Amino acid sequence: MTYQDKVILITGASSGIGKELALLLASEKARIILAARNEAKLLEVQAQCLSLTPHCHIVLMDVTDEKQVQEGAAKAIAIHGRIDVLINNAGVTQRSKLIDTSPTAIRKLMEVNFFGPMMLTTALLPQFKALGQGQIVVISSLAGLFGYPWRSGYNAAKHALQGYFETLQTEQPIPGLATTIISPGRIHTDITYSAITGNGDTYGVMDPGQAHGIPVDACARKIVSTMRKKKKMVIIARFERVLLWTKRYFPPLFYFIARKGN
Ligand SMILES: NC(=O)c1ccc[n+]([C@@H]2O[C@H](COP(=O)([O-])OP(=O)(O)OC[C@H]3O[C@@H](n4cnc5c(N)ncnc54)[C@H](OP(=O)(O)O)[C@@H]3O)[C@@H](O)[C@H]2O)c1
Repeated sequence: MTYQDKVILITGASSGIGKELALLLASEKARIILAARNEAKLLEVQAQCLSLTPHCHIVLMDVTDEKQVQEGAAKAIAIHGRIDVLINNAGVTQRSKLIDTSPTAIRKLMEVNFFGPMMLTTALLPQFKALGQGQIVVISSLAGLFGYPWRSGYNAAKHALQGYFETLQTEQPIPGLATTIISPGRIHTDITYSAITGNGDTYGVMDPGQAHGIPVDACARKIVSTMRKKKKMVIIARFERVLLWTKRYFPPLFYFIARKGN
């Protein structure tokens, strides 16, 4: 199956994984709708997409603002009269120890990584119901599957995301709705530059671990192949996945390895 002519709304499409997904799906002649806050960056991605597909639009949206999410969802539906696929990708990570992290910073991480995708999904479920089908893709993280140092709020938000969308998978309110949860490990994007620190400031640094992560184009290809198969869940990671196994089968080793992480 291809995504040709499917209307695909991608949040966080101005950079990283979202941008790469937009380009890959545009190359299948999908009808792309790019959402994020940075208009200049979105215009650059739009120009690249339009060299691959005849249809690519922009919807400016801060996913933490309920009014912008509701208006953005309505604008996105109005473009082609429907959304076939929603990719909840926008996100922001964290770099600060739990003891040094303010409740305001944690709230900010929850707003972007959990409340944003939850609000957009809530806004779009009625139109998926009217269509009788659709696909929701959620870019979670390995951080949604185990705790890890320096990411308390990010871990909390991604665990919440995991719980919310697994519930959607179990309730299955629309028979033709496929929900796919993607849990990447380290992917080489600029994500650590915009990471939130303990007082809510921006980290502004590329972490060495991030720079050696999986190339973003390889990650995007794996996500699209998972979407195509309508799998419920996939992990995209290298050696980080050992933490999952140790957590389940040999917890002392999990804590030994994880405590050394940052
Ligand atoms: N890179 C990794 O190692 C990794 C691993 C696991 C999971 N992930 C997840 O993958 C997703 C994409 O991350 P990435 O690595 O591609 O990072 P990225 O390059 O920093 O992209 C993040 C995107 O989210 C958007 N965004 C941030 N805050 C937003 C807000 N309030 N409203 C709307 N859009 C917002 C940004 O756009 P604007 O600034 O223009 O709004 C940007 O397009 C995230 O959910 C992240 O948690 C990444």
